[in-house]
Order: sequence, then structure tokens, then C-alpha cells
Amino acid sequence: MGKVGKAVLLAVSAVSVVAVNGAARVSHAEDIPAVNPLSGDEDAIRKGRSWFRGVCAVCHGGRADGAGERGQGADLRKFNKGFKVFVETVKNGKATGRPLAMPAWGAVLKDEDIYQIGAYLETLAIEGAKWKEDLN
Ligand code: HEC
Repeated sequence: MGKVGKAVLLAVSAVSVVAVNGAARVSHAEDIPAVNPLSGDEDAIRKGRSWFRGVCAVCHGGRADGAGERGQGADLRKFNKGFKVFVETVKNGKATGRPLAMPAWGAVLKDEDIYQIGAYLETLAIEGAKWKEDLN
């Protein structure tokens, strides 16, 4: 098989892997609300805090300042990419080029759980942060 043939085969198999995983895991931006529907909801904030401490704090730190036990996981008090990017990042993860990457949580957390975490994190936001904004 020539180079082009191999490349096509590779591309096709990559697409089918995405298609298989995609159904369950990869989020589609159009399914995510533009702004957090649970923003400011006391019950959601409480649940979000509990999720955050359970699954995120090990890397992002108990105060979300990035000082987790496992090293730098980004200071989330300064997150400024808006609500949709937050949800997509949590669902799909993020490569960093370093040994510590942001894991994909799409198979673990429901959308509502992620909105709860967002509602909690926006209460810790510092100046310049954009948690609930529709930036897309
Ligand atoms: C295994 C460690 C680890 C865990 C657990 C983890 N993260 Fe991350 N997270 C990272 C790393 C590393 C980055 C990338 C930092 C960078 O861009 O340099 C990151 C990035 C992010 C970003 C993007 C920040 C930005 O400015 O783009 C968000 C949002 C985020 N994490 C939220 C969460 C939430 C919410 C949880 C819990 C559900 C969580 N993370 C759990 C390691 C982790």
C-alpha cells in the first residue's frame, strides 16, 4: 500500500475510534447551555463543592488555586474562558505536554454534576475571571 493509502486508512480508523467513543464521551458544544443554569443556586453550590473536593482538589488544590498535591493543575480562580469551554474541558480533558494532564470526566460526571462544580467555582473567582459568561 502506498503512503496515501496508509494515511487514508489511518484517518478512517481514527474517525471510527472517535465515533465509538464519541457517542458516550465527547461533548458537543451545541448541547451545552451558553451560561450556567445552576449559577448562584445554593444547593448546587454545596454539591459542587463536594464534587470538587472529591475529584478535582487533588490536582487543583482545596482552594482551586492550582496548588494540588499532584502539582500544578491550573489556578481555577482565574479561569477566563467562559462556561462552555469550562464544561468541554471537564468532559473531554486537556493535554498539557507535561506528565500531568487534565483527565476527561465525561464518562464519570453527568452534565448536571459539572454545572454544580461550575456554580461552586464561580464563587471562588477572582478579578478578571469569567466563569458564567457566554464567550462563544
Ligand atoms: C489528575 C489531575 C487533575 C484532576 C483530577 C483535575 N484536573 Fe483539571 N487540570 C489539570 C491540569 C494538569 C490542567 C491543565 C493546566 C494547564 O493548562 O497547564 C487542568 C486544567 C483544567 C481546566 C482548564 C483551565 C484553563 O484555564 O484552561 C479546568 C476548567 C479544569 N482543569 C477543571 C477541573 C475540574 C472541574 C476537575 C474535577 C472534576 C479537574 N479539573 C480535575 C489536572 C487535573
